[in-house]
Amino acid sequence: MSTDRLVGSGAEGPDEEVIEAALRPKRLDDFVGQERVREQLGLVLHSALRRSRTPDHVLLSGGPGLGKTTLAMIIAAELGQPLRVSSGPAIERAGDLAAILSTLAEGEVLFLDEIHRMARPAEEMLYMAMEDFRVDVVVGKGPGATAIPLDIAPFTLVGATTRAGMLPGPLRDRFGFVAHMDFYGPEELEVIVRRSARLLDVKIADDAAAEVAGRSRGTPRIANRLLRRVRDFAEVRADGVVTAGLARAALELYEVDERGLDRLDRAVLRSLLATFGGGPVGLSTLAVSVGEEPETVEVVAEPFLVRQGLLARTPRGRIATPAAWTHLGLTPPPPPGDAGTLFDVPGDPPPGG
Ligand SMILES: Nc1ncnc2c1ncn2[C@@H]1O[C@H](COP(=O)(O)OP(=O)(O)O)[C@@H](O)[C@H]1O
Ligand SMILES: [Mg+2]
Repeated sequence: MSTDRLVGSGAEGPDEEVIEAALRPKRLDDFVGQERVREQLGLVLHSALRRSRTPDHVLLSGGPGLGKTTLAMIIAAELGQPLRVSSGPAIERAGDLAAILSTLAEGEVLFLDEIHRMARPAEEMLYMAMEDFRVDVVVGKGPGATAIPLDIAPFTLVGATTRAGMLPGPLRDRFGFVAHMDFYGPEELEVIVRRSARLLDVKIADDAAAEVAGRSRGTPRIANRLLRRVRDFAEVRADGVVTAGLARAALELYEVDERGLDRLDRAVLRSLLATFGGGPVGLSTLAVSVGEEPETVEVVAEPFLVRQGLLARTPRGRIATPAAWTHLGLTPPPPPGDAGTLFDVPGDPPPGG
């Protein structure tokens, strides 16, 4: 993924990770928004606590920056258990997973980030571990290979994925609770911006917080990032107090527009409109035209453009909506049904008359 984007996807570098850690809500009650997920998850966790059992495994699915890692940490905190962290790409062999699973203590929470990117053999080992708290460790090779069953302590798996659709059915089915995290509303983001401003000791006017929230692409990580950028701007260009005017000027400088679209979003739209006449065009062709990986376009840019009603996914490819043309200041082509207007403008004499 490119690193020059203000409105990128993952945490960008160690500095941002430190700040994110400082801004993370620690308990379910501090977690803003995602009302339904929060309520359902609260029930799952508290009923497990009452029965002194490990809760069902939890799958968190949703775009980058919506709070999956935060929730995983909260789950461990609410259960009063340590959190073991690994990720799909780090597990290349079944043995890597066996090494983690066999050292889990009873009740521990295992967080597997980007779980859709785990190696296949490890995935199969995980099915059995999730269901029976047991793994088969294969020793030796070829005809002499034997599987040694190994009991593991009951644990809770929390998986996170930006692409739930890429998870094999059998894996998805083994999660007792699946939480779909959606974009946040402007009011929720405003609460997050004010909370973060408080924690970072930034003075921000209410209408400025609303301005930042409204341009955050429905994403808490971006809200926090934009808050830091407007703070920098206010410190250098003014007395440090963030007013709405300063916020707007800073966001303009960083190329975030009124709808929250950033450079990549606009590049995707512009290419779709100018190069492909509004589509339909395939995802990979579109990605090549903006110099990005298809996954980046699909996971980072598209969901927000779809949510904004600027782009639609159709079986034949991606198409721009009329609103997309307007947003970029272009004139949409007439809808195909209107092709006849040239010939029957009101007031024209009837043909042949
Ligand atoms: N519901 C929320 N309330 C407050 N802050 C949040 C919330 N969700 C995410 N954040 C903030 O956004 C940042 C990114 O969240 P994170 O959990 O790392 O996202 P993900 O793992 O889904 O990419 C964190 O710094 C966190 O403080
Ligand atoms: Mg994360």
